[in-house]
Formats: sequence, C-alpha cells, structure tokens
Amino acid sequence: MRESWSSKFSFILVAAGSAIGLGNIWRFPIMVGQNGGAIFVLFYLIFVFFFALPILNAEISLGRAGQISVVGIFKKFAPKSFWKYLGFLYIITSIFILSYYSVVAGWIFNYFLYGISGNLKNLSSIEKAAEVFQNMSLSPFSQIFGLFLIIFLTALTVLGGIKGGIEKVCKILMPVLFILLLILVLRAITLEGALRGLKFYLLPDISKINPKVLISGMGQAFFSLSLGVGAMLTYGSYLSRDENIFKASLWIVIADTLVAFLAGLIIFPSLFSVEGLNIKAGPSLIFVTLPIVFYHLPLGFFFEILFFLLIIIAAITSTISLLEIPVTYLIDEKNFSRKKAVFFTSLLTFFLGIPSALSLGISKAFTSFLNIFGGEKGFLEVLDIFFGHFSLSIGSLLLCLFVAYKLKFLPVLENLNQPQKFPFEKLFKIFISLICPLGIFILILFFLFYPKEIG
Ligand code: TRP
Repeated sequence: MRESWSSKFSFILVAAGSAIGLGNIWRFPIMVGQNGGAIFVLFYLIFVFFFALPILNAEISLGRAGQISVVGIFKKFAPKSFWKYLGFLYIITSIFILSYYSVVAGWIFNYFLYGISGNLKNLSSIEKAAEVFQNMSLSPFSQIFGLFLIIFLTALTVLGGIKGGIEKVCKILMPVLFILLLILVLRAITLEGALRGLKFYLLPDISKINPKVLISGMGQAFFSLSLGVGAMLTYGSYLSRDENIFKASLWIVIADTLVAFLAGLIIFPSLFSVEGLNIKAGPSLIFVTLPIVFYHLPLGFFFEILFFLLIIIAAITSTISLLEIPVTYLIDEKNFSRKKAVFFTSLLTFFLGIPSALSLGISKAFTSFLNIFGGEKGFLEVLDIFFGHFSLSIGSLLLCLFVAYKLKFLPVLENLNQPQKFPFEKLFKIFISLICPLGIFILILFFLFYPKEIG
C-alpha cells in the first residue's frame, strides 16, 4: 500500500511548507527592494492568483490522479511517448536546485550559530558586517559544514517517510514558523521610522512599472510556490482521492503569500528605521544590511537569532520536498527501499552542492564559472539561472501543455471520485490551455533576450 497524508490539513501544511522557504523570506524582499517596492508586490499578487494558482491546482491534481512519481506519471498517462523525459527534467532540476538551495540555507545556519555564540553582536557598520560575511564565504569549513548539516537534517526527515517523517516534522515546524514570524513583525512595525518602510512596501508608485517588474513578478510567483519541478506533483501523489484540491491549493497559495508579505513587513520597516541603509542590497541584504538594524535594537541579538531560526525552518520544510521528488522516483520506479533511495540521493546532492559552496571566492574556477548574460557568474548563480529560473518555467509550461492538450484534462478533472464538481472548471481550462502557457512563453522569451534584466 502506498502511504498517504493523514488528512487534508496535513497535506496543506506540508505543501505550504514546501512553498514557504528562502524564496519568501530571503528572495522576495530582495525582489521588492530592487523592483520599485509596492508596485512589484501588486503584480506579484496578480501572478500568484491568476497564473500560479491554476498551475498549482493542475500539478496537484495530476499527481493525485496518478498516485505515482514524476516519471511514472507520464509513463502512465502517455505511455511510450517522449513525455517521460519531462519527468527526468523534473528530477534533474530538483536535485540541482536542492544542491545550491542547501548551500544558501547553510549560510543561514552558520549565521544562526554566530548569533548564538555572540559573533553578531558588534556589527555596528556595513564594513564590519561585510567582513563577517566575507569570512564565512571564504571558509571552506563553514561552507561545507552548512551544506552538510542541511542535507543531513533533510535526509533524516525524508527517511521517516510520508507520515512518520515529512508530515510529523512539518506539523511541529510550521506553527513555530508562524509564531516566530508574528513576534518579528510586531517588533519591526513598532520601530521608529517604520512608517517610511511601510509606505515603500505598500503604496504602489505607478511610474516604476516596467517589463522587468512584470517578468520578475511572474518568475518569483512560480519559484515561491515550488512549481515546475514536480514537487507539488509528488506531494499530490500521496493525497487520497476524496480531498478537494481546489480548496487545498487556495490555502497553500494564501499561506505562501501571507508569509512573503509578513517577511516584507519585518524587513522594510527595519531597514528604514536606520539611516542610510541600502534597500537594493541584493543577496547580501539579510547577511550584511540587516545585522546593522539588529545592532541598533535593544535585545537585537535575540531577535536576530529568532530571525535566522525562522529562515532555517522555512528552508528545511522546502528542502525535504525537493529531496522527496527523486526519492519517490527511486522507490516507485526502481524498487529502492526508502533508506537506500534517501542515502543515494542525499549523498549525490551533497557532492553536487560542493562546487556551489566553493563559489563565493574559495575556488577561482567556481567563483567565476561562466561568463554569461553580461558578466562573470559563480557556479551557484549559474545553477540558479538555469534551474531556479529557466528549467522551472519550462517545466510549468510543458505541464500546462501536457494537461491541456495531451490529456485533454480528462484524468485531472474526472475519474477522481471528486465529491464536489471541480469548481471554476471553464476558467481553469482557459487558464491552463491558453493564458498560463502564453504568459510563461513570454517569460521564457524575455529570459532569453534580456537575461540581465531578470533578478
Ligand atoms: N518554494 C521554495 C521557496 O520559496 C523554493 C522552491 C522552488 C522549491 N522550487 C521548489 C521548494 C521545489 C521545493 C520544491 O523557497
């Protein structure tokens, strides 16, 4: 018997755990900062509800209809066709995303430990904070240790299986995540100067609209909801046949959006509460800029530790879903035991993560790995571009085409013993067959012709 989640609520929790991650707390505020503030937030919301929600719905429905891994599903519904290679694309993408995602999560783990050991207490200037980040970037031990720890904790969870591992861990971590978020939001919005940050974050400035804002908004929506790599498909395959998927998808989207929104409510008021901080700082925002804010706060180091703990939790509930994709494949298709599958995939990801871990200055070759898209890019950045942006969009586009034109929606909408009729069926069909593929196609074209613009 294939395992399944113990209830719809559990499913929403684990899927929201997959969606809520570094994308919400680390990447979203960076994007908002670099794309004109509230206007980006507005378009992000439009893309989440009009593009990501239907695709999420399709991914989960397809997984549930097939009750099998990302490769098995295409073999089952389109035997002897090239579609099974889409499944392999999902597996490769998930492993590569996991490899660099774990490196970044590892930095956060290091910062959490620095926080506990008091190393973040005296960061009174950007120069001092930048030095700490630099030291960590250049320490092979810190980099590999962080990567190892994240993969180890992920593997340990996935080893426990669907109910006994993933579900159990998410049931503990997700409520903690929400409590930490609320504490930090309350702290941030009561800071002096918070209002200016709130204005930047919440009052759209129409003059800042440009194609980049739109395109980045769409890319961020897909990344944030873990679409296009078969994560939701895999989780959906462990969902029993009598749950209403539309409602579950809606809850997942709401939870994910809420967390991104709250993360912004922590970061922007904080950044505006200290004079002279650059909100466009980019990836170093939380490592270099934010510690300055904590320096100025009473009990700042305490909030800082909570903040990094929050991000670790968010990251781990995502990495487990990334690892579960290849693990489910090996169990379903190759008859591996869960233990063997987890051991094999996590070891592979660990080794694949090493070049990314060395790409912030330790190894010259990996630090300036490729000269593409108008500049030298490190190994980690290259993986993020190809897998975190490009492959993800292609994965979502092909999924829409598969569901709409190969399956003609049949197994997704029928044959499910759905207690309720599928809501908004017409709208769903129009979006999946036309509007979403067209939108993603434009995203991919833009990506190919203006790659520098995509952040
Ligand atoms: N959604 C995750 C986040 O916001 C990142 C992510 C992208 C992801 N694709 C995924 C997570 C696939 C799990 C599975 O951080």
